[in-house]
Amino acid sequence: AQPVIVAIDGPSGTGKSSTSKAVAARLGLSYLDTGAQYRAITWWMVTNGIDIEDPTAIAAVAGKPEIVSGTDPSAPTITVDGTDVAGPIRTQDVTSKVSAVSAVPEVRTRITELQRSLAASAEHGIVVEGRDIGTTVLPDADLKVFLTASPEARAARRSGELKGADIHVTREALIKRDAADSSRKTSPLAKADDAVEVDTTELTLTQVIECVVTLVEEKR
Ligand code: C5P
Repeated sequence: AQPVIVAIDGPSGTGKSSTSKAVAARLGLSYLDTGAQYRAITWWMVTNGIDIEDPTAIAAVAGKPEIVSGTDPSAPTITVDGTDVAGPIRTQDVTSKVSAVSAVPEVRTRITELQRSLAASAEHGIVVEGRDIGTTVLPDADLKVFLTASPEARAARRSGELKGADIHVTREALIKRDAADSSRKTSPLAKADDAVEVDTTELTLTQVIECVVTLVEEKR
């Protein structure tokens, strides 16, 4: 079979990662979490004392860190200059700073190149999840899915993951990050014209996975 390229975009808390990983595993495809790459470069900026309010400073060093993603859906990995950063990229600190770093065009160019080369080298195909995969990174993807959910459902899922985090605080932080990601100039969070929109508010994770697997099989 021809390698199949699947783009899954949407705001945070819509179940993108869980869905994408499960779909890739079911279909024997590679998996790429592009949010993890933006978090990794943000972690590097923070660790190296770069002022994240200064886009010029960020742009100047955007090419420095070496970011490597492991694309096995059963054990995805992410390293920066050889250091495993899977844990540190999920802290509140990185989460609150990633939108500012990912809005810098030089950062996006750099990370987009990595994403395209990983997609091109995936033997059986790949599921790539993010914000701009269908619109910018892989406009020729075989299938584009745009996941949505109500702000309440998204906040509930996120605070579930964060084990006991205040749901109102989580909801506000989520809305703020989505607004920043949707309004930036370069490659904002957006649904591609030819993407299939799936509202996951009333669906279980299993139902969303089934839905996307069916969509992929229809394209094969
Ligand atoms: O998906 P996740 O919540 O880990 O993404 C973290 C951040 O990375 C997003 O809020 C966004 O700023 C950035 N991102 C992006 N483009 C992508 C994926 C993520 O700008 N394709």
